[in-house]
Amino acid sequence: MKKNTIDFGYQEIPVEEKKERVKNVFNSVAGKYDLMNDAMSFGVHRLWKNLTITKINPQPGEILIDVAGGTGDLARRFLKRAEAVRVRRGGSSATAHICDINDQMLLAGIDQIKDKDNLSRVCGDAQKLPFSDNYADALSIAFGIRNVTDRQAALKQFFRVLKPGGRMFVLEFSTPKDKNLRKIYDSYSFNFIPKIGNFLAGDADSYQYLVESIRKFPKQNEFSNMIVESGFSNVSYRDFSGGIATLYWGWKI
Ligand SMILES: C[S@@+](CC[C@H](N)C(=O)[O-])C[C@H]1O[C@@H](n2cnc3c(N)ncnc32)[C@H](O)[C@@H]1O
Repeated sequence: MKKNTIDFGYQEIPVEEKKERVKNVFNSVAGKYDLMNDAMSFGVHRLWKNLTITKINPQPGEILIDVAGGTGDLARRFLKRAEAVRVRRGGSSATAHICDINDQMLLAGIDQIKDKDNLSRVCGDAQKLPFSDNYADALSIAFGIRNVTDRQAALKQFFRVLKPGGRMFVLEFSTPKDKNLRKIYDSYSFNFIPKIGNFLAGDADSYQYLVESIRKFPKQNEFSNMIVESGFSNVSYRDFSGGIATLYWGWKI
């Protein structure tokens, strides 16, 4: 029989409630999201995102869909890197679409100065992407897949919207393999992150969910297998910061 409950952090809730609960979390933190990211990770999330962009290797003329793109951190980095290549080698500008289920996150990221014409935003669900088949050269999702109700359905959508030869990248929090690092990381996460959330964003509960949802996310090998099951080839991953975060990738061949 199909299981009709799902994890929401350490709580088990009806499957149909998860999307709304996740939406509420990000509605609540949208205005302080970028500040909190820097505070919680001591700015290290920037390094993980830069390493992700290096692996994506953006090229002039390419189209990126950044799913669960939130305030647009990764999409902007993609465009900047592609533009640097374009200036050196020529070609047309790259395009990036930020797709996020939460309009508050999208709105919080709008920046009249940083935003260019080749960056667009669309409100949409990772499980039902509003893009046609074989559309994008690259697809990324950073710290988003953990929040999606049916991750396998989302991965299949990622495969669908990529062009043949297209590449997919998932950056997600993970489980450090070293026992001592895991202990320190757990202690920091459970004792400090909800407190920082309370202090800076006035919301400890959302950050408690963040910490718990990381622990419920599949381990690196298990998640890699899910990517393979969705049709991707050459699937692999690389741990960052001892496995606090992991970058997964796969190709649509
Ligand atoms: C932790 S934030 C990550 C934002 C951004 N990618 C970053 O790295 O800073 C997670 C984002 O996932 C979005 N999200 C959650 N569930 C989603 C879904 N089913 N489809 C699309 N976006 C979703 C949330 O609204 C939120 O903006």
